[in-house]
Amino acid sequence: MVKTWDPDQYLKFHGPRIRPALELLARIEVEDPATVYDLGCGPGNLTGFIQDKWPGAEVIGVDSSLPMLDEAREKWPDNQWVEADLNTWAPPAPADVLYSNAAFQWLGDHDALFVRLLDHLKPGGALAIQMPRNWQAPSHVAMREAAVASPWADRLLPQIRQAPVADPEVYYDLLRPHLSALDIWEVEYLQVLEGDNAVAEWTRGTALRALLDVLDADEREVFFDQYSAITQKAYPKRADGATLYPFRRLFMVGTR
Ligand SMILES: C[S@@+](CC[C@H](N)C(=O)[O-])C[C@H]1O[C@@H](n2cnc3c(N)ncnc32)[C@H](O)[C@@H]1O
Repeated sequence: MVKTWDPDQYLKFHGPRIRPALELLARIEVEDPATVYDLGCGPGNLTGFIQDKWPGAEVIGVDSSLPMLDEAREKWPDNQWVEADLNTWAPPAPADVLYSNAAFQWLGDHDALFVRLLDHLKPGGALAIQMPRNWQAPSHVAMREAAVASPWADRLLPQIRQAPVADPEVYYDLLRPHLSALDIWEVEYLQVLEGDNAVAEWTRGTALRALLDVLDADEREVFFDQYSAITQKAYPKRADGATLYPFRRLFMVGTR
C-alpha cells in the first residue's frame, strides 16, 4: 500500500498516464448524467475532461490522499473533493457514473467491492474502471530482484504485491450477472518515455513508492539506484534518447 502519494512525481509522465483515462471515458455511453464520481481521483487530472464530456454533470472526486486532493482542489476549487477510503466509501445517493482510472489496483477484495459499487448506480448508470495489469513486467520483477539483493529485504518484500488485478475472465464472470451490458478489453500500450532513467522514474510515481516508503532517506537513495540499474538494462534507451516501456491495462465499462 502506498502511504505517501506525490502529485509531482505522478504527473511527470502526464501524456502516457492520461491516454488510457481518456480512452476509458470515451467508451461510457451515459447521456447527461447528473452525478459523476471520479474514484481515486488523484490530483484532478481528469476533472476537466469529464466536465467537458458532460457539462451539466456534478463531477465529484474521491481520494484517500490529502496531498492529491489539495492539488486537485487548487486546480478545481469549485468542484467537490471527498477524502475517503474507497474500501468503505459509498455515495449519499445512487450515481449515474462511477469512473475510476488507475486506482482500484491499490485495493484488495475486488469481488465484494465492485459488486457493492454496482448497488450505488442508478438503473442505466455505468461503472467504468481501468487498472494496470503489468505486475509481471520486467519493471515490476526488478522490484523483487532489487529488494532481495538489498540489506532491507525483510522490510521491502512484504510491500511487493503479487497480482492485485485478476484475469479479465474473472471480472467478466463476476460483473456480467449484475449488468445489462459489459464492455471489457485490454490494451498493451507501447509507451514512449522521455528523459533519463525513465522506467524507474515512472514506477517511482506509483508501484515503487510502497517500497520507498518503508526506507529512510539514505536507504531510499541506495535502493532506488540499485533498482534503476536493473531497469536501465531491461529497458535501454533508443537511438533518439527515448525509452520504450510496454504497459498492459484492463478496461471495463459496465451498464446497470
Ligand atoms: C495512480 S493514482 C491515479 C489518479 C487519477 N485517477 C489519474 O488517473 O490520474 C491512484 C490514486 O488512487 C488513490 N487511492 C489509492 N488507494 C485508495 C483508497 N483505498 N481509497 C481512496 N483512494 C485511493 C491514491 O491516493 C491515488 O491518488
